[in-house]
Amino acid sequence: MFKILEKRMLNPTIGKLVVEAPRIAASALPGQFLIIRPDEKGERVPLTISDSDPEKGTVTVVIQLIGASSHHMVEDFKEGDFYADVTGPLGNPSEFVHATPEELKGRSYVFIGGGLGTAPVYPQAKWLHDHGVSVDVIVGARMESLLIYTEELASACDNLYLCTDDGSRGFKGVGTAQLEELVASGKKYTHAVAIGPMIMMKFSTLTCQKLGIPIQVSMNTLMVDGTGMCGACRVSVGGKTKFACVDGPEFDGALVDWDEAMRRSRQYKPEEAAAMENYGK
Ligand SMILES: Cc1cc2nc3c(=O)[nH]c(=O)nc-3n(C[C@H](O)[C@H](O)[C@H](O)COP(=O)(O)OP(=O)(O)OC[C@H]3O[C@@H](n4cnc5c(N)ncnc54)[C@H](O)[C@@H]3O)c2cc1C
Ligand code: FES
Repeated sequence: MFKILEKRMLNPTIGKLVVEAPRIAASALPGQFLIIRPDEKGERVPLTISDSDPEKGTVTVVIQLIGASSHHMVEDFKEGDFYADVTGPLGNPSEFVHATPEELKGRSYVFIGGGLGTAPVYPQAKWLHDHGVSVDVIVGARMESLLIYTEELASACDNLYLCTDDGSRGFKGVGTAQLEELVASGKKYTHAVAIGPMIMMKFSTLTCQKLGIPIQVSMNTLMVDGTGMCGACRVSVGGKTKFACVDGPEFDGALVDWDEAMRRSRQYKPEEAAAMENYGK
């Protein structure tokens, strides 16, 4: 059993939970995720580790209320309650954690975080910033009230660029448009990372290909076991079959078969809609 120590809504549809999980906190690295099963009957929900504190023995997850399970995990649990299972850290850490100080020298990163994907950007940007690497972060949301993690990110990067579709805060437009403008104004990046909805990662990849910047994306495919056994998270990368849970979750965006990945992520829409309709009944 894993105790929920803190719970806070970041906006009406996104909750942040700090969970006691000392063994996971002791070994979690940027880019990794965990799977939470809220209770005995709950489904297994993969979530990126948005922060971890080895001294306090805690991990932080940021959950978007999207369907039955995410609503259940946030709305039906309060501080002091327990989740039945928290498994992790799962997946591979981001490539850069294995880079030598020599290799890191001279790199300059730009992160593009879309919507909920903003929170998982934080541990990666922080790790690089703490290691003296130049980091810019572009965060996009539909409107100002949906922007999250801005204070945390501001302290974990050199420059934070906020974008909103409606122009209510920062740059008016999508994150990729902001990136193009930054590069046109003379900014140079050696590496890009995009985290967010698949469609946003696909377009971030296309933009980075145009700008000649290699890009890593974090594939939020459907997952069940998280151990490479069930095949739910299958994704084609460079013409080869990969499993996002054990081979990823991060891949070279230019090699991902986006059309297949997006098609596969939609395959249970009717079941998901039915589960949401039954939620709370
Ligand atoms: C590696 C990874 C990291 C993730 N990190 C986060 C995170 O930090 N915060 C967050 O809110 N969400 C994250 N997700 C997505 C999250 O797992 C889904 O939003 C959640 O499972 C939705 O469940 P639901 O019952 O609320 O929604 P449903 O109505 O069941 O599904 C809504 C949509 O969520 C996705 N989804 C549903 N079930 C799964 C599943 N078993 N595995 C993956 N995606 C699913 C599908 O795109 C689906 O169309 C991550 C997914 C992966 C694979
Ligand atoms: S989630 Fe089952 S193989 Fe990846």
